[in-house]
Amino acid sequence: MKKIGIMTTGGDCSGLNTVINRIVLGACARGWRTFGIIDGTDGLCHMPANAIELTPESIPIENARLAGSFLHNGNSGIMNFEIAVKMGKIAQFNRNLKRSLSTLKLDALILVGGNGSFSLAYKNNDIYSNLSLICIPKTIDFDIPLTDRTIGFDTAVNELVKYCDQVLLTARSHHRWFVVQTMGRECGRLALNAGVAIGADAIIIPEIKFNIDDLVKHIRCVHRDYGIIMVSEGITLRGHSGRPADMISRALTAAGITNRAAFPDYIQRSGDTTAADRITATKMVACALDAIENRETNVMTALRGGECVTVPLAEFYAAGDISRDPNIPDLCTSNAYVEPDDPLLDAACAMDIYIGEMK
Ligand code: F6P
Repeated sequence: MKKIGIMTTGGDCSGLNTVINRIVLGACARGWRTFGIIDGTDGLCHMPANAIELTPESIPIENARLAGSFLHNGNSGIMNFEIAVKMGKIAQFNRNLKRSLSTLKLDALILVGGNGSFSLAYKNNDIYSNLSLICIPKTIDFDIPLTDRTIGFDTAVNELVKYCDQVLLTARSHHRWFVVQTMGRECGRLALNAGVAIGADAIIIPEIKFNIDDLVKHIRCVHRDYGIIMVSEGITLRGHSGRPADMISRALTAAGITNRAAFPDYIQRSGDTTAADRITATKMVACALDAIENRETNVMTALRGGECVTVPLAEFYAAGDISRDPNIPDLCTSNAYVEPDDPLLDAACAMDIYIGEMK
């Protein structure tokens, strides 16, 4: 009988509990035991590891739709990779992780994380050398290369749509524009998808240069005196500082356009998991369990045209743009961004949405 572990790391998102639920159901169907590691690597580096056995009876099916992770994501500030590096204790931290995994006697570990966690797992691979490591991509930012979807992205887009649909009503009442700031780090996919879905009049993302005068001109030409300008948190505006939506808002005010900045913030990581995210979670877990059965290791599950496949972590790492943390040499992350040939950009332009300086 195999023993498998699940660990959720990085920022939370909706869909993590679906993944946990599906792992437990799928593992039980194969006659395997499942252990949930509490608090990500924080819990794993404890001696003994902070882990509980999960069974279909112990995790109510209705919890599978709820946002967040009932195993928690760590970052409690007690101990994690960054803290270990800062304290000069990274070798000991890695040793503890490896020792905990061998104490738990796991045959496999399913790491549900983002590009930071996967990059770290790839770079510090020795920790997982005695078991099968399968990574399942989750993030609202959708900044992981080589997969058509990440768990949590669809729910985040839907939460933004719900938020903007409501904001638009107050915008209409007051003849006002709203500059809505989305999450996404340096990747504009969340802003782009949500902006197109709500019919924003402008979408500003980090990947595409924009010009504030052109934006003002565009807004003045819109046949309404209200609407939404979607702005990704990763953008910058030369000569200005502060939160991106505030910067754009001030520039619009200076140009005589009545507006407010709005911040949906952490509701993007919340909300009941959409059907699309639940289906993605189910496909990815089925693929992960097959991969364990087939003794694969150091792979990530990836959706490709509706089918779920495994991709070696080495390929994931090589495919992305690497961003480096100058203070932590080991903290190089493989990132995906909106590509200039993304068909959604063309569709947005066809609707006369201002996107910036498209070639
Ligand atoms: O990576 C997910 C994400 O929600 C980003 O979109 C956002 O910038 C960040 O995490 C916020 O992180 P924190 O939880 O540390 O505030």
